[in-house]
Amino acid sequence: MLAVILSGGSGTRLWPLSREAYPKQFLPVVSDDSLLAETIERGLMLDTSARVMAITNEDHRFVVAAQLHVQASERTAGIILEPVGRNTAPAIALAALAAAEDNPEELLLVMPSDHVLKNLTAFREAVQKGADAARSGKLVTFGIVPSSPHTGYGYIKAGAKKNGYQDVAAFVEKPDEATAERYLGEGDYFWNSGMFLFRADRYLQELETHQPGILAACREAWEQRQADMDFTRVGKAAFESCPDDSIDYAVMEKTHDAVVVPLDAGWSDVGSWSALWEIQPQDGQGNVCRGDVITEDVSGSYIHSEGRLIAVLGVSDHVIVETDDVVLVADRNRVQDVKKLVAKVKAQG
Ligand code: GDD
Ligand code: MG
Repeated sequence: MLAVILSGGSGTRLWPLSREAYPKQFLPVVSDDSLLAETIERGLMLDTSARVMAITNEDHRFVVAAQLHVQASERTAGIILEPVGRNTAPAIALAALAAAEDNPEELLLVMPSDHVLKNLTAFREAVQKGADAARSGKLVTFGIVPSSPHTGYGYIKAGAKKNGYQDVAAFVEKPDEATAERYLGEGDYFWNSGMFLFRADRYLQELETHQPGILAACREAWEQRQADMDFTRVGKAAFESCPDDSIDYAVMEKTHDAVVVPLDAGWSDVGSWSALWEIQPQDGQGNVCRGDVITEDVSGSYIHSEGRLIAVLGVSDHVIVETDDVVLVADRNRVQDVKKLVAKVKAQG
């Protein structure tokens, strides 16, 4: 099995800790290890022969390479560098083309590098349940029981029950809020965790059927690749010409061959400060404090100091994050809009 780690996003909603130069996957957000380090660990513990490959961009290549060396030296399957970001469908296509050279039926476990999974045993069991289906040619998704009508996720309607998994009756990427509410009411929907398990050749066939332009551009870019130590750089012009699309829209919404394995492993997409507040142990007043923080009459807040002491009095439901050059103070219920602040900061230059 090949664990394919996607590390191309910039995670602006965790600003000011997460920056373009150093996005959230490289930060120790919930434990002492970075999210990327935790993802590599998850890949390695799948089974003793599992190898790990990463797909990232030029800017982050050394951070990714250093982490892979530390954790996975002998079990690294290389790092593919994209000249530009074209979203996840092309990134995974490059991984599949690389894997298919050695073994077209190699199982790829695609993993975003910016998630938290608390229960590794449950995760491994879910992957094992999906592996037989994947070997037989299915595209396996991992479904999370939804707890809110979140519009940032894909929704999977579960169909006929099989042994350990269910057919996917429908896959809807990022529905609007009314639709998400309806799905929640109907009850037989999962959130898509963003991890996938399939054979390399099956993913490439599905792309051929549903998005042949992506496959053609990726094939050309892959044929023009150049090796440089651990890195493989694909052809620039060909990859730039590739349509920009996510695997969710390009393949998962369209395929008739997907199944879903339920995943109950403390999964969380740490997409925002409020998500971080939710998943970490809170004190008696419902606060999560990291670093040098003192509070008086504070409740329901996430307070994070990178250096200076933060002293907080008499507020509730706040997010306060201190870094060398920025202090963020926000309403905890408004943190999805942090990206608006980031846009303003960028506009100021
Ligand atoms: N290498 C590479 N290149 N990685 C990328 C690129 C790219 O161009 N674009 C995104 N990624 C990485 C991100 O860093 C992240 O780790 C992962 O791919 C998923 O991309 P996101 O942009 O975070 O996707 P999303 O959160 O909007 O939606 C996906 O994940 C949800 C669960 O968190 C979808 O799969 C949804 O259906 C799913 O519910
Ligand atoms: Mg995401």
